[in-house]
Amino acid sequence: MNGQAVPPDDQNHSHAHEGAGHEEPKAFQRDVFGTRLGFILAAVGSAVGLGNMWRFPYATSKSGGAAFVVLYIGMVFLVGIPVMLAEFSVGRGTRLSPIGALRKAGGRGWSPLGWLFVAAGFLILSYYSVIAGWVLRYLVDAIFVGFPTDLASYFGEVTSGIQPIVYHLIFMGLTVAIVMGGIEKGIERASFFMMPTLFLTVVGLAIWAATLDGAGAGYAFYLHTDFAAILDPKVLADAAAQAFFSLSLGMGAMLTFSSYLSKHENLPRESSIISFADFGVAFLAGLVVFPVVFALGLQDEVTNTSSAIGALFISIPGAFIKMGAVGRVVGALFFTVLFVGALTSAISLLEVVTASLIDEFGVARKKAAVGMGVIIALLGILPAESLGSLDAMDGLASGVFLPLGGLALAVLVGWVMKAPLDEVKRGIGPRLSRILPAWLWILRILVPAALAIVLWQTVPEAWQKLVSLFGGG
Ligand code: PHE
Repeated sequence: MNGQAVPPDDQNHSHAHEGAGHEEPKAFQRDVFGTRLGFILAAVGSAVGLGNMWRFPYATSKSGGAAFVVLYIGMVFLVGIPVMLAEFSVGRGTRLSPIGALRKAGGRGWSPLGWLFVAAGFLILSYYSVIAGWVLRYLVDAIFVGFPTDLASYFGEVTSGIQPIVYHLIFMGLTVAIVMGGIEKGIERASFFMMPTLFLTVVGLAIWAATLDGAGAGYAFYLHTDFAAILDPKVLADAAAQAFFSLSLGMGAMLTFSSYLSKHENLPRESSIISFADFGVAFLAGLVVFPVVFALGLQDEVTNTSSAIGALFISIPGAFIKMGAVGRVVGALFFTVLFVGALTSAISLLEVVTASLIDEFGVARKKAAVGMGVIIALLGILPAESLGSLDAMDGLASGVFLPLGGLALAVLVGWVMKAPLDEVKRGIGPRLSRILPAWLWILRILVPAALAIVLWQTVPEAWQKLVSLFGGG
């Protein structure tokens, strides 16, 4: 990565050369990504996380196998990429984090939605870090002692008492340390190192999984088709919600990252690369998980487990144990991938909150990162101690806040902004320019319609979870 000069274009960020009447509110120079690859790796790092390795294979197995995969790909293309491009255009166009960006792009009335983005980041990181803490604990044990045979009670031990709090705090500490370093020296550098490690390991694991006896049956199950499932609105909502969570959309993570990006980059190309990479890792995760599960005849256990958490933390490690010494190595690699994915995602969540404090209140980066990290860590004690509240927080944040945020972005860019195509036109050729109006129409009509269906499903679900949490204890 280049530590030295930024491209000439990037030296002018604070001089507002990008739009009539838009002046940058802050006197100091804004951070920038040193390289294009650095930006892509950081954005892919945000996207690839627990959502890919844990939720995607699980959701696929629950909702009709290949039908879900097809639906998911549809969602990525028709809703995910357009919304990511909307985030990029607002983020790079305004060069601000969500609150200021929405205010600058849409007017004063839009800043409360920016606060909603920050609240979503806050909430998601508080429980995401708890799950990442369990992953860290599993990783440490996989390396040093191996998993115990009674995984159900091991999982109980890892998730109750003081242990989950300790590992959650360690994970938050690591996240804060990286974000404190800033964009180029913190986030970019960490992603440069971690993302290639993650990719190579997942590919290696998928190749190994192909050699297992149950591989064929695993693939058949993963890719078998129950096309009737596609028509079920619940499956549709699940696929869309999964796409949003997995692509880190609807809460300003991509928006914030793109606010540090050079004006030369081709935004439609970057959003396609990032989405494709994210899908690729999720798909590969399925190519690891299903052969492993089928090789050991654990398929019923996985599909009957009432939560994705159980599948990941009980059934899959159970398979590794049965494989003896090989399982030990593979188990350690599998949890390394999960851990690295979770860390690069957590960084982006904390960056949204930190950048908002920097941009809105002029707080210094280190102070902002530490202060917010501490508050989020404290909030995380709640989900660390109660799986019910973790589930309810996830229902609210990923089920409601993210689709709502995506809807807001689609309306803002599609209907409210005066010249929504200007920012995207920078850095792209005439051919692509000509089809940009299609993107706008997707944002205007298709995305809001799809997200309305999603919210119609998820709002009652999230509400139910909250009620049973508070009502049922
Ligand atoms: N995309 C991340 C994952 O799949 C989670 C995430 C959601 C990160 C929202 C940032 C913002 O694990």
